[in-house]
Amino acid sequence: MPTAFHDRVSTELADIDSQGLTKPERVIASRQGPVIEVGGRKVLNFCANNYLGLAGDDRIVEAARAATARRGAGTASVRFICGTQDIHKELEAQVAAYLGFEDAILFAAAFDANGGLFEPLFGEADAIVSDSLNHASIIDGVRLCKAKRYRFATSDMDDLETQLKAARAAGARDIVIATDGAFSMDGYIAKLKDIRALADRYDALIMVDDCHATGFLGPQGRGSFAHHGVEIDFLTGTFGKALGGAMGGFICATSAVVQLLKQRARPYLFSNALAPAVCGASMEAIRIAQGAEGDALRGQLTANAQRYRAAMTEAGFDLLPGEHPIIPVMLGDAKLAQDLAARMLELGVYVIGFSFPVVPRGAARIRTQMSAAHTFDHIDQTVAAFKQAGKELGVI
Ligand SMILES: Cc1ncc(COP(=O)(O)O)c(C=O)c1O
Repeated sequence: MPTAFHDRVSTELADIDSQGLTKPERVIASRQGPVIEVGGRKVLNFCANNYLGLAGDDRIVEAARAATARRGAGTASVRFICGTQDIHKELEAQVAAYLGFEDAILFAAAFDANGGLFEPLFGEADAIVSDSLNHASIIDGVRLCKAKRYRFATSDMDDLETQLKAARAAGARDIVIATDGAFSMDGYIAKLKDIRALADRYDALIMVDDCHATGFLGPQGRGSFAHHGVEIDFLTGTFGKALGGAMGGFICATSAVVQLLKQRARPYLFSNALAPAVCGASMEAIRIAQGAEGDALRGQLTANAQRYRAAMTEAGFDLLPGEHPIIPVMLGDAKLAQDLAARMLELGVYVIGFSFPVVPRGAARIRTQMSAAHTFDHIDQTVAAFKQAGKELGVI
């Protein structure tokens, strides 16, 4: 065994730890929800992507169980060999109809959807103009593609225009603007109206990753583009957050684009089909999200976010501004973020400190996230715990 390699791994781990950047796994012994069991104790949970509160919902669990009973644990195959069941076609049709696109293609994760989108559709003659704050999976997907890359400062429309001009001046065949619909670390919603206008001016396509928007932003929770009332060309999303919280990703686009992706997208061609349980759970979540109950859940989510934001601001915490249920409590120092999260857990609230490389160095934070399943009482208890812990650690 080459010991030099193992020594290097140990040194790197120690280095990560000494900077307060270690991300431990805390084990949860319950379903996902507003109250979870950690270390034998019930605690409030304010860091799940469980925006509509459906992750532990009995109807979703039952739909997963029923789908497993009907179609088994899984396909033991990729889609094009013998891994396409009726349930996959139903979910693709349902998600496309819900979000208003011609068709959809499923992936094992949104990470794979972003990894599989660009390379089949764009080549050396094309240009991808990407927001600098885009999710890691978009960055990786762009890296896998031979198109020329341009980056614009996050949400900076002047810079976007500069990059579009540069791409056109360089003679790009097709240009695609790639952006998160809502940025996962900050909760900022992309300026899709302005992006649409620039795309029209420079004849560019638009790709949006709506993992943190599908199900709860815009009319019927159709996402950031619906929130802004604009059309886009490619939408990537996840079933692992608001839409039931299981796992699995998708791309919505025109039928022709989806057909081409089914011939060329590597994470689709070379990875197992989604488990029936995931399909069943996701279809039930979409059914709930697009109806009247979805409206009620979205109303509750907004009310929760407003109540929490107002109380935390009044208490003196530094929050990033916005209207999204991702509400980051800014701390700067990674160790402070970890210490505050640890103290919060002692006080009965589960939150997590985020530090480099998930956020920039010096911009550590506790990313709190609201859920429609939180009650006002949960919110008030959490604010009280933040006030106590914040005072103890000199944050407020
Ligand atoms: C913006 C964004 N895109 C993609 C993903 C990946 O989603 P999935 O968990 O389905 O791979 C995430 C999840 O963290 C995300 O926040």
